[in-house]
Amino acid sequence: MDFEPQLKLGLQNMWYPICQSAGVKEKPRGFHRLGQDVVVWRDSVGKIHIHEDRCLHRGAKLSVGEVVNGSLRCAYHGWCYDTSGQCVTIPTSKTAQTKLAPRLRLRSYESQERADLVWGYFSENADEPAPPLIIPEELEDPAYSGFICEAVWKANWILVLENLADPMHGPFLHGQSLTLGRGALEDDMRVRRNDAGFIVEREGQRGVNFDWSEFYCDDSLWVRLDIPLPFGPKGILRILCFATPMTEDSTLVYFLRYRKLSGWKRAYWRFLYKTFWEKQHFKVIEQDRVILESLRGAQSRMAEHLANSDRGVTELRKLLREKIACRTAQ
Ligand code: FES
Ligand SMILES: [Fe+2]
Repeated sequence: MDFEPQLKLGLQNMWYPICQSAGVKEKPRGFHRLGQDVVVWRDSVGKIHIHEDRCLHRGAKLSVGEVVNGSLRCAYHGWCYDTSGQCVTIPTSKTAQTKLAPRLRLRSYESQERADLVWGYFSENADEPAPPLIIPEELEDPAYSGFICEAVWKANWILVLENLADPMHGPFLHGQSLTLGRGALEDDMRVRRNDAGFIVEREGQRGVNFDWSEFYCDDSLWVRLDIPLPFGPKGILRILCFATPMTEDSTLVYFLRYRKLSGWKRAYWRFLYKTFWEKQHFKVIEQDRVILESLRGAQSRMAEHLANSDRGVTELRKLLREKIACRTAQ
């Protein structure tokens, strides 16, 4: 089974994290997301804007330019665009300035900054207003504290999502890790649908390994899961995962690791995370990266043999097919 064409570069009409807020300062930044080049920049009051990264004059990347007096200025011949993408300055010709500029507007993407990430709404119809952005509530609940982990994997985004719908890989692929080495190697899986997605879970154990994951798939798509930490301090580490397609064969992945801790326990965990846990978790996600990059994308899917342990993978495929059908029907 090949990837559905509508899925290869991401589902349209959805919110995706584009980059970390801290990565966009006074200089514009260029990114390749969902197969498109976008420029992310801050205006004079620090508000984020996202536009197509292509100057309407001769096609230079606007991310090579700079922000001048609250407008985005192309480095090549100085054409400027305001926060709505409207061309406002053509310095090389007075006639063009008055006649041509008012007719030129860059494609814009609605944007938001939430949970220290820049989010963009990718839609087929640029003029359609974006729906509200729903993100996991832990990310904005002061009872939780967390860190962002970001990586780029050379694998299609669907493979990244399927890996998150597959708890049984935990004790095998990550069997030698500090966090995912415990529990039975054999189990049955079950799936429960809910309003916006589904939960896939092991029938035989909870709180021992990566034993369940929850998929939310509406106008944004994200995954929630827990892994147990054996110490420092002991308890549940909640992971909120996002996958943003870059090309057909590369994906920006975010793992936001949050804990519900207060007082000295929070400070202790934040210290230990930076000095110890971050490296351990990185070893684990490197194992995921290596295995997903070994799958050879759609080719692997054509020769696969699925079992009961793949209940989550099949449910995810079903959900995405339903989503495409529902979008097509609209
Ligand atoms: S290409 Fe941008 S101003 Fe000429
Ligand atoms: Fe994994």
